[in-house]
Amino acid sequence: MSAPVDISPVTLEQIPANQDRRYQLREIFGNDHPIELELGIGKGRFLIQSAEAHPERNWVGVEWASRYYRLVAERAAKRGLANLRVLRDDAAHVVRDTIEDASIDVLHVYFPDPWPKARHNKRRLVQPPFAREAARILVNGGRVKLATDHEDYAVQMERVFKADPDFRQTFRAIGDEAPEGVTNWEVKFRREGRTIHKFEFERVKRSET
Ligand SMILES: C[S@@+](CC[C@H](N)C(=O)[O-])C[C@H]1O[C@@H](n2cnc3c(N)ncnc32)[C@H](O)[C@@H]1O
Repeated sequence: MSAPVDISPVTLEQIPANQDRRYQLREIFGNDHPIELELGIGKGRFLIQSAEAHPERNWVGVEWASRYYRLVAERAAKRGLANLRVLRDDAAHVVRDTIEDASIDVLHVYFPDPWPKARHNKRRLVQPPFAREAARILVNGGRVKLATDHEDYAVQMERVFKADPDFRQTFRAIGDEAPEGVTNWEVKFRREGRTIHKFEFERVKRSET
């Protein structure tokens, strides 16, 4: 049996919902490099590849499923990635309650659970309050990048961010037009020939008061 991997260098401790506390990400990373946040990292292919390719940026991944969280944490710890942290928690809570204002450069939301049944739609992550929180945590000119293979959720994602006055759409592509990404689900969905929708929105500059 192989020795257990010490994941503590790459993990963030949960901040419970009832605590008025936020992560001090610049202190945690020990630098002021731009920070990218991925919600629902799955097996972490995108997050780990990105952290390896861009040591000049910091990467934070949030994942609800303990199994995936542990898998990604172990992979990151084994690679000694000092610019990556993972957190096992609920993505909506993390964004709403634990991230400081204007602290994130890019927010990545790839293939979030589509909750296809109409009575479950309200469980979807991308809803108007989420866009408001995304606007709060992104720096001026920061971006949110989204992808889904679910047609109805794609319509909702685009509608939600287009309706938010703090965002302007900078990119949309469907199917073959969409540039290839590297998340585990995108690789699987492309192999299956599914149509992928991608969007990008820019956080407009805050007016100075
Ligand atoms: C369809 S998978 C996509 C994974 C990855 N983004 C990709 O493209 O390969 C959705 C992921 O989101 C995670 N997830 C679902 N609900 C979540 C929540 N409320 N907070 C954090 N992660 C969540 C799931 O456990 C799963 O790993």
